[in-house]
Amino acid sequence: MDKRVIDQFWRQRATEGGGRWTEPEMLDYELSMLTPYVGANCHILDLGSGPAALSTRLLGPSCRLTAVDKYQSFLDSIPSDPRINTVCSDVVNFSYTTATYDLILLFGVVTHLDLAEELAVYENAARGLADSGVLAVKNQSSHHGEKQVDGYSESLKCHYVGRYPDIPGQAARLGRFFGKVEIRHYPPAFDKWPDTTHVCFLCSSRK
Ligand SMILES: C[S@@+](CC[C@H](N)C(=O)[O-])C[C@H]1O[C@@H](n2cnc3c(N)ncnc32)[C@H](O)[C@@H]1O
Repeated sequence: MDKRVIDQFWRQRATEGGGRWTEPEMLDYELSMLTPYVGANCHILDLGSGPAALSTRLLGPSCRLTAVDKYQSFLDSIPSDPRINTVCSDVVNFSYTTATYDLILLFGVVTHLDLAEELAVYENAARGLADSGVLAVKNQSSHHGEKQVDGYSESLKCHYVGRYPDIPGQAARLGRFFGKVEIRHYPPAFDKWPDTTHVCFLCSSRK
């Protein structure tokens, strides 16, 4: 994958404040999927948070959020709140030295990581997760074998590079680090393209 194209894509979107481009109904779906994992005093780590449209909505009064993104402009758009801490970092290099997280989110990010980076993020997340914690990994997945795109996107009006892992392959990679990997298929109504679908992997019981 051409990382220069990916970097230019997110740098541009960060200046425009555009993290997501999915419909509001998908955000509602994700909130209802994740809310059961947010208990009292939950510390959430949002890896590749963008403006944290998802994770800030999960925050209860006793919760804390650490939002991590590679682009400071995204983090600057997160509302100031004593429960929220922001870290400008590549998710691959994020340092877990200071905390143990109850819920780690990796939403819409794997698409822009190569295989080695994807594995490194899983391995580090397994180390940073609380014993009873959950890592939730969501991205578009390919129905048949991994799919890569590299070219002009009519819908995004720019050059776009991305990787859409196949579901069994991604589940197997997560299974190297977690004893339980539950696959949640999103409703087909969210699918915009015939060869990809939206999937969340809910991972617990780190190995
Ligand atoms: C599709 S957006 C999703 C934002 C958020 N997770 C959500 O679901 O609302 C992907 C985000 O990942 C960030 N990102 C992509 N690659 C990254 C990397 N290697 N390190 C840190 N952030 C990254 C982008 O800047 C962008 O904010």
